[in-house]
Amino acid sequence: MKIEDKTVPIREAPTSEEIVIKIKDLRKCFGDNEVLKGFNMVLRKGENLVVMGKSGSGKSVMIKCLVGLMAPDSGIIEVLGKNIDQLDQMELDELRSDIGFLFQGSALYDSMTVRENLEFPMRRHRKKFEGITDTLPLVKEALENVGLAHTMDLMPSELSGGMKRRVALARAIILKPKLILYDEPTSGLDPITSKEIIELMRNIQHKYGTSALIITHDVDCARVISERMILLVDGINYAEGTFTELIGSQDPKVNAFFKK
Ligand SMILES: Nc1ncnc2c1ncn2[C@@H]1O[C@H](COP(=O)(O)OP(=O)(O)OP(=O)(O)O)[C@@H](O)[C@H]1O
Ligand SMILES: [Mg+2]
Repeated sequence: MKIEDKTVPIREAPTSEEIVIKIKDLRKCFGDNEVLKGFNMVLRKGENLVVMGKSGSGKSVMIKCLVGLMAPDSGIIEVLGKNIDQLDQMELDELRSDIGFLFQGSALYDSMTVRENLEFPMRRHRKKFEGITDTLPLVKEALENVGLAHTMDLMPSELSGGMKRRVALARAIILKPKLILYDEPTSGLDPITSKEIIELMRNIQHKYGTSALIITHDVDCARVISERMILLVDGINYAEGTFTELIGSQDPKVNAFFKK
């Protein structure tokens, strides 16, 4: 009879090339409202990391600090090996061309067609597309990835909520980013459409090998997509582990996340 090896592999500390995001002691307050009080996080290459936190806990603030849209009060943020705080506007723009951002809500430009929405980041990051005169194949490829090639000439007002989210996803991947930040990718969608979006996120990770930070309070989304999770509670990284580890926790603050 074969004896199973039950030894648990030791998770070695990641080397710097394997680290895509590193946040150390991030603090941010708005007047008396102390939102982040020393938040720490590491995202490794190729990993899907979910950050969960209740509404108003500071998830969007954290993600905005990450891409330099909001300045933290203190703390160190390194993204793709660059310290955000030390970059000038040009360097920040260049870094952002390697980051896909799915904003909370979708945030498509209402006055632009689907195609124009997708071309927008390409125009912003012209340097990355130097030598490419015809954007159409790239727009088509990004839309095909989300099953919406036929919507290219439609306006956002002609799309359903789920379709808008898919277009936003296509826009986030058109730059072939190394890292994708998802802020509540399934919020406001019905369970079936949510599942479809999660499936697309997984397909994208397999196809392009991107690393992803997913902010959500959707337990089903976290279960399906996360390889590791961090719970943001009281402004800090309160708990960390796999979905299975966290759902089995006895800590009442951790437990509260998983109660239906
Ligand atoms: N620009 C701002 N000025 C003042 N306060 C802000 C600003 N942005 C965020 N806040 C405050 O910071 C706190 C965290 O907001 P944030 O948007 O990060 O929450 P969240 O965790 O993303 O919530 P949700 O799940 O509802 O999206 C809230 O109390 C909010 O009022
Ligand atoms: Mg938010």
